[in-house]
Amino acid sequence: MAIPEHFINELRSRVGLVDLVARRVKLTKRGREHTGLCPFHNEKTPSFTVNDDKGFYHCFGCSAHGGAIDFIMATEGLTFPETVERLAADVGMEVPRSAPRDREAEERRKSLYDVCQIAADWFEGQLNGMAGRDALSYVQGRGLTPATMARFHLGYAPEGRNAMKRTLIDRGIEEAQLIEAGLLIAPEDGGESYDRFRNRLMFPITDARERVVAFGGRALGEQRAKYLNSPETPIFHKGDLLYNLANARKPARDDDVLVVVEGYMDVIALDQAGLPNVVAPLGTALTENQMTALWRIVAEPALCFDGDAAGQRAAQRAAQRSLPLLKPGHSLRFIALPEGDDPDSLVRAKGTAAFTDLLNSALPLSETLWRMQVANKNLETPEQRAGLRKDLRDMVKEIADSTVRDYYDDHFKDRLNKAFAPSGSRSNGTYNRKEYAKNRHSGRYPRPLYAPPIAARSGLGQGWKADTYRRERLLIAALLNHPDLIHEVFEDVGQLHLSSPELDNIRRSIIEKATSDAPLDLEGLRNNLHSSGMADATTKLLAELTSPGIAKLDPLARPDATLTQVVKDWTNVSRWHQLEELRHEFEAAQVDLGHDMTEEKLTQFYNLQEAYNVAKAEAIKVEDT
Ligand code: UTP
Ligand code: MN
Repeated sequence: MAIPEHFINELRSRVGLVDLVARRVKLTKRGREHTGLCPFHNEKTPSFTVNDDKGFYHCFGCSAHGGAIDFIMATEGLTFPETVERLAADVGMEVPRSAPRDREAEERRKSLYDVCQIAADWFEGQLNGMAGRDALSYVQGRGLTPATMARFHLGYAPEGRNAMKRTLIDRGIEEAQLIEAGLLIAPEDGGESYDRFRNRLMFPITDARERVVAFGGRALGEQRAKYLNSPETPIFHKGDLLYNLANARKPARDDDVLVVVEGYMDVIALDQAGLPNVVAPLGTALTENQMTALWRIVAEPALCFDGDAAGQRAAQRAAQRSLPLLKPGHSLRFIALPEGDDPDSLVRAKGTAAFTDLLNSALPLSETLWRMQVANKNLETPEQRAGLRKDLRDMVKEIADSTVRDYYDDHFKDRLNKAFAPSGSRSNGTYNRKEYAKNRHSGRYPRPLYAPPIAARSGLGQGWKADTYRRERLLIAALLNHPDLIHEVFEDVGQLHLSSPELDNIRRSIIEKATSDAPLDLEGLRNNLHSSGMADATTKLLAELTSPGIAKLDPLARPDATLTQVVKDWTNVSRWHQLEELRHEFEAAQVDLGHDMTEEKLTQFYNLQEAYNVAKAEAIKVEDT
């Protein structure tokens, strides 16, 4: 359905974005803009702004950005045409159809919704009538209250080949429509069409706008399939929908929790137990579109699987499938149920709290992926561990978003190192910044040696920008003379490339010291270097960098600078250092390209040039602050 562009533009200009957003977000006017708490991520201070003149919103926290149409699509989970339809109705515009054929198709779709709704009403009536007696006592036997049954519009499709067909055709609905809606089966041999659902408990399935589009039917007797679902129809694509999504959306947003379970009865039982923010796929594994729909509502939907082997496999498939879709801030959590239970049986036997306990202990995606890779593997030899490293890497490559991918790569590298660190080599292999912050003045870590608060001026002298060795010395000397510095710039030190092997030896010793509990003391560092068999050159350099005279040569090493100043200067120097490194790579690529003009070399050159420009802009920005 192609909607003309001029119409979209007109629609955009007529819809008041602020009014639209204000239905969901409490906005405060500030100058020409309105601000509020971002509906797309969790925040305590507003970074979400709406500009009515320009017709767009932007979140400085999570970078969500768009206009009225994007906003409705994202918050209501509607498709583009559905959104246009809705907004047009709001402002009294009629969506033009570009061709009469589309109009016909649209009319037909419209009538399919009607057909499904009429069928749903009729099924519901049947459950409460004579024909539905047994079905009703079955549902009651499963503990559902009349209010729950009414909320989910449960129904009953009676026995017999034609019960529904006859009634609905009598009401003027065409046979062809009933077939198209999936309610009748038309045999291929041209025989009489007949009711798809017979003697089944009926669960109407609604789309994001709460229109009935399909049904699930549970067997009550001895029919072969326990559940039967509507086939794909013009209004029902089972891979795009989730059962109960329309009802779960608001409570899910409010609590920032959305649970995905396997079955219709699980959704309904949890809802009755006071957990309305639950959805289920429609008898298939969770699709990409369904995951995307979940992420429009909460950042980390929790997927609930049976505790048995099949449930584990399903969890792994979902985890794997999510990788190409991950975005910063978007993830999944995994709940494993006790074996033999589903959410329905669990809440009925053990109560709501039993389920919320499980929910609270849901595993993050990273943990699930790790366990998945480590399970049933022998990891005794270096080769086996290398195999694991490779498997983890291959898995991480599936992540399309580069930021998330980098974090995952680091995460697994780190985990692998910790998992196989030789025992006793470190008192505890974890470096914990928070722990440090908590203990820094409690005596567990030494009080800083520098004397605050004098000498706020930059301690950087001249010449370090052009001289690589000078820069490297500065960076290490500062770390040695300000024992607290390492904890402020730990990550950067980990990634620092030094061309001098002696300086790099010291760098590695510093990191090792920082990750153990012991404070950074020179004696320990010296012993460290000695015991690891470092050449004399390194220890000599260490002595030189910590001698009282050093401050004259390397002002950043002056012990009387404040930590704040040192951190700033150090960061500045390390940025330039990285920048210079990139420049060398970039120049080398340029020379290389001159020798060999291939597409690949050209791309490489462009990438390096880009990286260099970004790093340079960053370094200049830091220097300016
Ligand atoms: P389950 O077999 O776990 O059933 O199927 P359930 O939801 O616990 O149902 P009860 O408690 O026995 O009534 C989970 C989901 O898988 C789909 C349905 O969507 C069901 O809700 N399914 C299952 C089918 O589509 N066809 C089947 O034959 C079975
Ligand atoms: Mn069940």
